[in-house]
Amino acid sequence: MAAYIPDDKITAVRNASDIVDIISEVVSLRRSGRNFLGLCPFHAEKTPSFTVSQEKQIFYCFGCGAGGNVFSFLMKHGGLTFPEAVRTLGGRYGIDLPTRKMSPAQKKKLTERETILTLNVEAMSFYRNCLISDEKGKPAMTYLLKRGMTRKTIDDFNLGYSPKGWDNLAHAFRLKKRSTQMIFRSGLIVSRKSGDGHYDRFRDRIMFPIMNGQSQVIGFGGRVMDDALPKYLNSPETPVYNKSRSLFGVDKARAKCREKKSVYVVEGYFDLIVMHQFGIENTVATLGTSLTGEHVRSLKSIVGEGGTAILVYDSDQAGIKAAQRSVAVFQKGLLDARILVLPKDHDPDSFLREKGSDQFFQASEQSLGMISFMMESAIEKYGLSVDGKVHIVNGLKSALLAINDPVARSLRIKQLSERIGVDESILLQKVRHATIHSKKGNLQRSYRSSESHTEPEKTRGGTYRFEKQVVTMMLQFPEMIGPIKEQRFVEYFSDPVLSEIGKGIIDHFSNTEGDISGFVSCWDDTEKKSMIARLSLADVQWDRQGCIKLINQFAASLRRRDKTLIQRIETAEKNGDVTLLAKLLREKQHQIH
Ligand code: UTP
Ligand code: MN
Repeated sequence: MAAYIPDDKITAVRNASDIVDIISEVVSLRRSGRNFLGLCPFHAEKTPSFTVSQEKQIFYCFGCGAGGNVFSFLMKHGGLTFPEAVRTLGGRYGIDLPTRKMSPAQKKKLTERETILTLNVEAMSFYRNCLISDEKGKPAMTYLLKRGMTRKTIDDFNLGYSPKGWDNLAHAFRLKKRSTQMIFRSGLIVSRKSGDGHYDRFRDRIMFPIMNGQSQVIGFGGRVMDDALPKYLNSPETPVYNKSRSLFGVDKARAKCREKKSVYVVEGYFDLIVMHQFGIENTVATLGTSLTGEHVRSLKSIVGEGGTAILVYDSDQAGIKAAQRSVAVFQKGLLDARILVLPKDHDPDSFLREKGSDQFFQASEQSLGMISFMMESAIEKYGLSVDGKVHIVNGLKSALLAINDPVARSLRIKQLSERIGVDESILLQKVRHATIHSKKGNLQRSYRSSESHTEPEKTRGGTYRFEKQVVTMMLQFPEMIGPIKEQRFVEYFSDPVLSEIGKGIIDHFSNTEGDISGFVSCWDDTEKKSMIARLSLADVQWDRQGCIKLINQFAASLRRRDKTLIQRIETAEKNGDVTLLAKLLREKQHQIH
């Protein structure tokens, strides 16, 4: 694995890192006993089962089974390769990592992301320079100031200007001898349709750098300064930019989101920037896409347990449609969401500049929960005639059904009944009827699948559980490894995975003391990494006394097994069953080694 970063360097990086620090950047964690708990970033959940141990430097989600050490987390969450994870942390904790030993192929793969990120930073400086110190940028600066941007905001958001002309940026990169291929991969230049060559993607536009949670520049948005179309141009999908995952402003919003346990979600670049400028920093923006499940997952991890997202939409029909679409996404993602529809002809930018933040907060207090919002907009759309009511109920029944909490669901049904004057029992019947035809099956299935890793275990029986307990003990009470090694328990294990892990523990922990995170690193297989994290963090109720008891029980069970085997051998001998006898003797042989 990654031979070009020497093992001692990898260990140094691992030892220097703090898993709680790293995970806290993306998941809001709270202390719970010896561990930290938060909402899992890898599956939808409402009560936290994502556990992080500072002491052991590992994480495990008891809901979906994801687990490992700090490297595993970065790989899974950030989509990084192992060397990238090591490098990211190395950079962060100031540990120099050699790059020389990489093969050209490895180097290419490893550095593509890094190269694009670097090019983006260089492009950002270039655009910035054009805006701040170049004569050509004057109209752009005037435009920004006219739209109410302060100089501080322009600096904080690193706004820039891409000049007129076809190859200003390409030329600047040429002077620096940057690879055309990589600039093309970054999306900053576009291939000419006729013939070869490239030209700048962004020309004569206000430039908005898009950062990820780690403040890396992953892409750009560019706005024209007149009525030309398209009004906004965005970076294409690249190895570092994925618009259905990215949220503009997320790096600047995180701290406030955590503090307020809420996040405003707006639609536009200017909306986001103006929200921040008005001190409403717990705001992010989606970038020209409707909200996806991945967005909801990130929103959830930044507001933390019990947090809320407030979607701010323009009052136009498109905004309302978008709000309705997102209802399902939020229900699936198990994040509480409210919808704030601004008065006619306002977006957050114009609203704040015209009316100020107090009025914004007042409006925000009037925001409706998802279901109420759907009720109100259905009523507005269909009216309260008999026909209208039929439409309203039909339109709402699956949303009502999707409410997980039965108490909440029945309260909502009651609310609708009162609001539109339809008997509650009839509504209940309608919703129940929807059960049979609706997507609820899907919803339930997805829950089950998130727990499925525990299912086979229940059917695996006593021996497996016993062996698992022994491995858990070895991980949690390392002083018991000695006696277990002496009695050669692991050699008698019938489960191959547990046996392999058990042997690994004996090898690993005889020379390193209690370094679980290091032990996790020894394995290539993610399943085994997760299993080790899980057993290390399992909530065991026993102490030293309990350990000794378990050891004695295991020894007794082995003796029992042995005794049964001897009895069976004797019977086979008596019966003259040669085939069985040979098989049993082989088994006995195998036990003794
Ligand atoms: P709007 O058209 O509502 O514009 O697009 P806006 O945000 O109010 O922009 P200003 O105030 O006129 O400058 C909302 C968002 O949709 C995306 C952008 O992210 C924009 O901020 N969008 C819009 C595009 O990606 N491309 C477009 O051509 C238009
Ligand atoms: Mn606007």
